[in-house]
Amino acid sequence: MSWVSERGLVAAISNAGGFGVLASGSMPPEMLVAEIEATKALTDRPFGVNLITMHPQLDTLIDVCGVAQIEHVVLAGGLPTSAAIKRVKAFGAKAICFAPALVLAKKLVRAGADALVIEGAEAGGHIGPVSTSVLAQEILPEMGSQVPVFVAGGIGRGEAMLSYLEMGAAGVQLGTRFVCAHECIAHPRFKRAFIRASARDAVVSVQIDPEFPVIPVRALSNAGTERFMDVQREVIEKFHRGEMDQKTAQLEIEHFWAGALRRAVIDGDVENGSLMAGQSVGMVRSEQSVQSIIDDIIAQALDALDARKAPAVVMSEGVQGVV
Ligand SMILES: Cc1cc2nc3c(=O)[nH]c(=O)nc-3n(C[C@H](O)[C@H](O)[C@H](O)COP(=O)(O)O)c2cc1C
Repeated sequence: MSWVSERGLVAAISNAGGFGVLASGSMPPEMLVAEIEATKALTDRPFGVNLITMHPQLDTLIDVCGVAQIEHVVLAGGLPTSAAIKRVKAFGAKAICFAPALVLAKKLVRAGADALVIEGAEAGGHIGPVSTSVLAQEILPEMGSQVPVFVAGGIGRGEAMLSYLEMGAAGVQLGTRFVCAHECIAHPRFKRAFIRASARDAVVSVQIDPEFPVIPVRALSNAGTERFMDVQREVIEKFHRGEMDQKTAQLEIEHFWAGALRRAVIDGDVENGSLMAGQSVGMVRSEQSVQSIIDDIIAQALDALDARKAPAVVMSEGVQGVV
């Protein structure tokens, strides 16, 4: 989670028994060096680094992870090349890749991916079109025995985590649930927006013309998301009136959100910034420490396991019975 998943939150998650992942976003290499060092100063536990595949200095960022002896590198934001995967593995780290479909999961494993993240459309931030539950059913039975698969998107409670583990997942990845951690750097206004929001407020960015594609992003609706519709309409009209070529129009649409996540997370501009959030935002009800968030999730999973040991009520053809 760019801007959110920085040293403080990552170290707190690893210290609390989770596995924190630093989001490098658009950081230049020297900033990543500093962020990794700062995180190491806060935790002795392992943590990973998330790199965006379209970063122009991806190779250098991978090398930074190598020098810093990072053992888990997540290649996100598009399909990584096999060269990028090999570069990660060359220094002994595990390469973890996002697989948005079964066919791509197989391709990534053939290319050397050591583990996969399957992230459904319920998640916050940039998303694919398929829901977590469907991705899990398509990918876990085939891939779960080959490589560790982590399920992400829409997970807010331990019962859901347990169900994916029972389906063959190696673990789960949560983003939205940690935004309101005390240790999270996000601006108080950003956190307040999360605490107030319900699942239906976390909506996907709308594209109004297929000729001008918009990358789907799930975020809380605000004045910025409304204005984005107007900007698309205005720019597309200019293109149709011949006042702007298609490339310039597309760039203008893409630039609308440039820097918008930072504006919301760091500056607290919750009206015009991007409030990236998953549908699990409805389960974020208060600020909590990372430790208590993780403890809650584990307790919910354990309670669900205990409940499974109790006699099950079976409903079949209108007959209820206890077995
Ligand atoms: C504010 C925000 C920023 C995010 N930024 C990134 C990112 O930079 N790289 C990435 O791989 N995923 C990013 N994600 C997705 C998370 O890594 C994670 O997969 C997702 O939040 C899981 O779904 P959930 O939000 O339902 O918990 C972001 C999510 C949020 C909420």
